[in-house]
Amino acid sequence: MTAAGRLIAIEGIDGCGKSTQARVLAEALGAVLTHEPGATALGRSLRGLLLDPDGDAPSERAEALLMAADRAQHVAGVIRPALRAGRWVVTDRYSASTLAYQGYGRGLPLEDLRRLVAWATEELTPDLQVLVDVDPAVARGRAGTAPDRLERLDASFHDRVRQGYLALADAEPDRWAVVDGAGAVEVVASAVRGAVERRLGAPAGQGVRGDEAAAGS
Ligand code: TYD
Repeated sequence: MTAAGRLIAIEGIDGCGKSTQARVLAEALGAVLTHEPGATALGRSLRGLLLDPDGDAPSERAEALLMAADRAQHVAGVIRPALRAGRWVVTDRYSASTLAYQGYGRGLPLEDLRRLVAWATEELTPDLQVLVDVDPAVARGRAGTAPDRLERLDASFHDRVRQGYLALADAEPDRWAVVDGAGAVEVVASAVRGAVERRLGAPAGQGVRGDEAAAGS
């Protein structure tokens, strides 16, 4: 085993519960918790431009480019430094959000978007992507009271995004774990944690096995 960090991306449609799951997982792993869009100072400005329902709506390509700019800043300023320091990082959304929303949702060509995210991230890909999968009808019931620009899009948009995520996971099963997000928070959290431990093990000094080993020695 090396001391290198690991990058885990939690993905899913709006209202699937992934932000809660990302927080619980990061706590359990002792990982750095971060999110997109908007984890850096520049990113917070971009997030306002992207999601404010009262602002000037970006074109589809402008939306993709602004998401990519947010991600480039996030990788350079937050994710790579943490990984270099040997930390595990849990990010609430990453490149697959662009493929699912701007690709499957908006209809921009997937191959263009793959090149865009590869360039923006200098090809930093997650060690594991966890899809918290729920039916859009369930997710709508969980949505907050002040929907942003993308949350206001119609049900068919969110159906396409969900199907897009499932297609991405299906095409690369070794890079994805799909977890049913319909259950209680603790049930979903334990499924997410189980998937991560099966694929990546646990960070040094973390996790049930590590704790037991420490207690028993
Ligand atoms: P998010 O912060 O997860 O929403 P919330 O704070 O409401 O839980 O994401 C904001 C929105 O941005 C969400 O609708 C998904 C969208 N998004 C994209 O369309 N493409 C992207 O690449 C990313 C990172 C997010």
